[in-house]
Amino acid sequence: MDVARSYHYDRFGDADRAAELHRLQRQATVLLGAELAELQRLGFGLGQRILEVGCGPGFLTGPLSDIAGEAGGVGLDMSSELLAAASAIVAPAHPNVRFVQGNAYATGLQDASFDFLYSRLLYQHLTRPLDALREAARVVRPGGQVCLMDIDDGFLTLYPCPPAFSRLTELALTAQAHNGGDRLVARKLPGLMREAGLTDIRMRGITVSSLELGLGAFLDITTRFKAIQVGSAESMALSNELGALARMPPDQQPFGVVVAFFAVGRRPG
Ligand SMILES: C[S@@+](CC[C@H](N)C(=O)[O-])C[C@H]1O[C@@H](n2cnc3c(N)ncnc32)[C@H](O)[C@@H]1O
Repeated sequence: MDVARSYHYDRFGDADRAAELHRLQRQATVLLGAELAELQRLGFGLGQRILEVGCGPGFLTGPLSDIAGEAGGVGLDMSSELLAAASAIVAPAHPNVRFVQGNAYATGLQDASFDFLYSRLLYQHLTRPLDALREAARVVRPGGQVCLMDIDDGFLTLYPCPPAFSRLTELALTAQAHNGGDRLVARKLPGLMREAGLTDIRMRGITVSSLELGLGAFLDITTRFKAIQVGSAESMALSNELGALARMPPDQQPFGVVVAFFAVGRRPG
């Protein structure tokens, strides 16, 4: 299997695995309502068979398969540990969902077997995003849609911006690129979709800010995990420095905002 170096859950230690699962759940919960509404606005709905590639613990795959109804949903991921969490936590509450192990580059799924394909926060970890997109375009039916939700650290900021934030963002960008990923991936998705032969390409964004989450939770889902990802004494010190900001009186805290981008394209035909 073509293993991602940029994100490999099964290689986290026990404590980090539990924290990461919690972070993924929090990240999914924070956006859930807006994300489901956005996907429906982009054309996903009842009767559309959905595939979520890189589904992780499946916190979105469950609700998406509920919307699809009897058409159902499949979550695919390469991590056996995350799929075990998906089967234990998500599957029991969502009768139309199924989870399978597989790779985004070669899913092993039938040609044209889904109406809608979704990937969230996967493409920032892929070394060969164009190959994964071609595979995505293959498994949706002609006229079906591929939707990628991802971030771009050019659209993540604190204001006023403390040097520790800029430095940790920069270290994570370099570390992820070193491991074959790309924290600036969102701006590249429309061009990649065009190259993969998709048409009717659109892009939209949802903002998530410290106003609705509080600065502590905002930093948890956007920034603190980067200290572990970078894994140096400097990154840990920067993360602690940022943690202190969240304990300041609210009227003295900086404002944080990030954009979750949705790029969508259609298989011609
Ligand atoms: C940041 S996590 C996001 C998980 C989930 N989509 C979410 O938003 O909670 C990235 C996911 O992509 C999966 N992944 C990375 N490379 C993959 C590949 N080549 N094929 C399938 N899954 C992959 C990882 O195992 C992980 O579950």
